[in-house]
Amino acid sequence: MAHESSTGALDKGHIPRKSTRVFLSHFCEWLATTQGSIALHESLYMYPVVESIHVLTLCVFIGLAAILDLRLLGLTLRRVPFSEVAARLLPFMAGGFLVMIVTGALLFYAIPVRSFHNVFFRAKMIMLALAGLNAWVFHRRVYRRVLEWDLDPIAPRAARVGGAVSLVLWAAIIVSGRMIAYNWFDCDKPQPRAISWIAGCDAYPR
Ligand code: HEM
Repeated sequence: MAHESSTGALDKGHIPRKSTRVFLSHFCEWLATTQGSIALHESLYMYPVVESIHVLTLCVFIGLAAILDLRLLGLTLRRVPFSEVAARLLPFMAGGFLVMIVTGALLFYAIPVRSFHNVFFRAKMIMLALAGLNAWVFHRRVYRRVLEWDLDPIAPRAARVGGAVSLVLWAAIIVSGRMIAYNWFDCDKPQPRAISWIAGCDAYPR
């Protein structure tokens, strides 16, 4: 069973091919032993600074994304062509998104095991993927024909659905991000079977 122990297996360069979940949990255990993770976790100011940047950039990224979605729904900037709103906001949104991903990854790196087994973090990652898929479908399907509806005060149905789904998903991502800090459903406490399954508590290090 030597290769089952997390850091031992990684130290030996041999990665167990048990279940992906167990492998990822072991990987997070190993991450938590690295100098960088310990330094960030134990830092007095660094973690709060990174988290503050994570929250501040959220205002830029999600604030601008909300304006774009509200324009699609015909609730603001109705006389401004959609492509013009997009052209002005997308560069700032892209920059904000990048900073959110980097600071988010650092927050995860500081507390990898707890974050990996956190139901809210898992929900947030799934919704981030769905938000990415929604944006991809919008750009591939709807935005390609923007010149057909660019001046319309209210965009076509597919565009409005995309905007509404985006608003709901980003709101849910913010709430689940905020909930990560609460330990109600942590694996170090007895949890209902469903929570324990969602959080992957069977792979949680004891
Ligand atoms: C780009 C979209 C993202 C949004 C809108 C977002 C939003 C948030 C929000 C609102 C919080 C709560 C901050 C607070 O309570 O002070 C948060 C916390 C957190 N986020 Fe994100 N986040 C995003 C991406 C990510 C990514 C990509 C990761 C990791 C890979 C991540 C990891 C975390 C972690 C670990 C926390 C918990 C920090 C703590 O409670 O100490 N986030 N996020």
